[in-house]
Amino acid sequence: MLKIVTIVGARPQFIKAATVSRVIRSRSNIEEIIVHTGQHFDENMSGIFFKEMDIPHPAYNLQIESLPHGAMTGRMLEGIEKILVDENPDWVLVYGDTNSTLAGALAASKLHIKLAHVEAGLRSYNMHMPEEVNRIITDRLSSLLLCPSDLSIRNLKSEGYDNFSVQIANSGDVMFDASIFYSKLSKKPGWLKSLSLSDNFVLATVHRAENTEDPHRLSEIIRALNTINESIPVILPLHPRTKKIIDASEINLDFNSVDPVGYLEMIYLLKNCEYVLSDSGGLQKEAYFFKKSCLILREETEWKELVEHGPNQIVGAEYDRIINAASNIDVSLGYDQQFYGDGFAAEKVVDCLQFYI
Ligand code: UD1
Ligand code: UDP
Repeated sequence: MLKIVTIVGARPQFIKAATVSRVIRSRSNIEEIIVHTGQHFDENMSGIFFKEMDIPHPAYNLQIESLPHGAMTGRMLEGIEKILVDENPDWVLVYGDTNSTLAGALAASKLHIKLAHVEAGLRSYNMHMPEEVNRIITDRLSSLLLCPSDLSIRNLKSEGYDNFSVQIANSGDVMFDASIFYSKLSKKPGWLKSLSLSDNFVLATVHRAENTEDPHRLSEIIRALNTINESIPVILPLHPRTKKIIDASEINLDFNSVDPVGYLEMIYLLKNCEYVLSDSGGLQKEAYFFKKSCLILREETEWKELVEHGPNQIVGAEYDRIINAASNIDVSLGYDQQFYGDGFAAEKVVDCLQFYI
């Protein structure tokens, strides 16, 4: 029996883990133990994903909430280490680039337990992003790097990973699998009717630290969304981090902001929106999966193929630049290139976990 301890903590990891966990459960010779660090804890940031996406109840919940980066990562490291000592798994499995990912990676490596990283090899080359630091360290500590795209493989090779004792596989992106699987289950949000929107709307999300922690960037983005809303309604499911900052500021939202939604409602919004404005890593690709353009509210992206060969554009956080791009958006651009595998990334991830042990 192969024993895997999976570490999750934040919203995007629940979606990725749901997809891989379904494949793990279909194989009788693997046991998975899910550890929730508690990093995301509101019902609509955590519980809803476990229920809607049928993720097994975590065996452990460390309940580590709302701390500064060092304290959060340190407490997670301590908690995960204890669990790994008790469980003694063959693999620790981590996803993405959050503080929960880093804590899982450090705990595994200090106990010499093999670490597998799903979504390996992504780079923004912006070391001010906590996520960039988290993913670089996690990659370096891993024994198995499961890359979502050709570019992520090339990034690792350019950092000399061919010379390290590590397995690298292009598994494809488990988020692509998720978009296919959950598309059939997408749900219209109840509040959409009561907003009495016209036929179309623009979908926006903002939560990245570089935008929320910089009052100028945040107010420019919101000012741009207010202007766009004058010609097409904007819907913004509001991350609690952004909500707290906006509530404590003078910034006015003239458009529809709603509580964070579950993934099934998010897919409905993606399918039905005109285009997307976001600083989210996941949403940039999901827009593409559902044939929508995404204006990226950042200065760089890890998913460069969608900018160089696809419909996405980097627009930063300046009012004029955002409005100019939004006014000239071409919603009919091509979406036919398969950058992220064939929809069976989760199977490949689990095959690798079984093969490389
Ligand atoms: C984290 C990840 C980010 C990811 C995002 C997904 C890190 C460094 N960042 O950012 O990469 O894109 O999750 O959404 O790990 N909060 C609540 N309720 C919740 C969750 C958060 O109120 O359920 C508030 C708390 O005040 C918390 C703040 O949001 O302090 C920030 O949460 P945190 O998990 O630290 O960072 P995110 O911005 O969510
Ligand atoms: N998401 C969601 N509800 C929301 C906002 C986002 O289900 O209200 C989904 C989104 O579609 C994506 C995932 O959560 O699949 C992660 O997005 P987020 O922006 O939180 O994190 P990132 O991808 O930037 O790390």
